[in-house]
Amino acid sequence: MTTSTTTTITSVFIILLLLSTDATTTTLDSDVSALKAIKAAIDPTTIPSYSCLASWNFTSDPCSYHHVDHFLCGLSCSGNRVTQLTFDRAGYVGTLSPLVSKLTQLITIDISDNKFSGPIPTSLFSLPNLQTLNLRSNSFSGTIPSDISNLKSIQALDISHNSLSGSLPNTLSSLPLTRLDLSFNNLTGPIPKLPKNLLELAIKSNSLSGFLPKPSFNDLTQLEVVELSDNSLTGTIPGWFLLQQSLQQVNLANNGFTGIEISKPINSNLIAVDIGYNKIVGYLPVNLSAYPVLSSLSLRYNQLHGPIPPVFSQKATLKRLFLDGNYLSGLPPKEFFSKKSSVSGSLGDNCLKNCPISSQLCLKSQKPSSICQQAYGGKGKQKS
Ligand SMILES: *[C@@H]1O[C@H](CO)[C@@H](O)[C@H](O)[C@H]1NC(C)=O
Ligand SMILES: *[C@@H]1O[C@H](CO)[C@@H](O)[C@H](O)[C@H]1NC(C)=O
Ligand SMILES: *[C@@H]1O[C@H](CO)[C@@H](O)[C@H](O)[C@H]1NC(C)=O
Repeated sequence: MTTSTTTTITSVFIILLLLSTDATTTTLDSDVSALKAIKAAIDPTTIPSYSCLASWNFTSDPCSYHHVDHFLCGLSCSGNRVTQLTFDRAGYVGTLSPLVSKLTQLITIDISDNKFSGPIPTSLFSLPNLQTLNLRSNSFSGTIPSDISNLKSIQALDISHNSLSGSLPNTLSSLPLTRLDLSFNNLTGPIPKLPKNLLELAIKSNSLSGFLPKPSFNDLTQLEVVELSDNSLTGTIPGWFLLQQSLQQVNLANNGFTGIEISKPINSNLIAVDIGYNKIVGYLPVNLSAYPVLSSLSLRYNQLHGPIPPVFSQKATLKRLFLDGNYLSGLPPKEFFSKKSSVSGSLGDNCLKNCPISSQLCLKSQKPSSICQQAYGGKGKQKS
């Protein structure tokens, strides 16, 4: 080995040594004590030895990245401040310490898929830089406090699959959220005014009630996805609703809607609409066929009467069509059964005549004629 190589190796070694003892990364004391409190609020018997939290050993400094054994995961830092809490799915049982609010540089909290319970600490809402809050699949309970509007930087909020109750605060609308998921909770009451930057709204499987209120959706010019299935919403689905310009996917299935107004769109990106399992009466809205890129449509298990307009069978973009479980009558348009048709779905459990059982669309049989006669006023029109 030459002297110069030895010198190079020695200096590289010294540089590495200097880096590894870099004193500037010593975590801010108040961040360290917040991390200690967060760990202490978790039942130690639920911290498996292989987990991130098991590696949180405060004999080392949390934000120094040179440990082999300690603080292996569960947090990230920028300089001497903690910026992310991202727990693994280890099944931690406990509460979220209110002292989390001392980590004022936090950008991300993701403690999803664990067993945190109790209320969401309101101190959390004072975090000025928090952009992502993911508490999905835990057991948080209580209401969503109106203080949530203090989260001035929040973009993505997911508290789905918890046990939240009460109604949604009106202050939600002031948040800069683009994604909101509160699905699978026990939320009640009406849909409040919504944040205007929303791209995705998901509040499925709760007990929301009332109409679809126009003021709640006003100014939501970027809204692409609406998931409000499995609630107790009622009234008529109003004409403006599906006309919202950015909408791509709408799921209003399994509610108590009784009517639907569909206007012809001037321009629409709507791809998928599910309004199955409601109580909608009237004719199959022919204007739905005027949505230029509509590919998937379900109105199954409602109380629709009358014929299926032939335009639906001629619509090239339509790939999935579920109209089963209604009282649709007459002959189904024959284009559905041509070799060129690529529509799948179901037209079964209706009052259709001559639905060819060679087509998978007709596999489910039609209603008994007695039920159809009753549905059409007992005039015997459906007799074959
Ligand atoms: C923390 O680390 C020190 C030094 O490696 C070790 O002696 C101690 O047992 C550790 N504590 C826990 C709770 O693992
Ligand atoms: C939702 O609320 C109802 C009645 O208020 C209660 O019986 C039910 O257990 C709650 N469900 C959950 C998941 O909290
Ligand atoms: C279809 O849309 C047009 C134009 O928006 C509207 O005037 C008409 O009433 C709609 N038809 C039905 C049956 O809703």
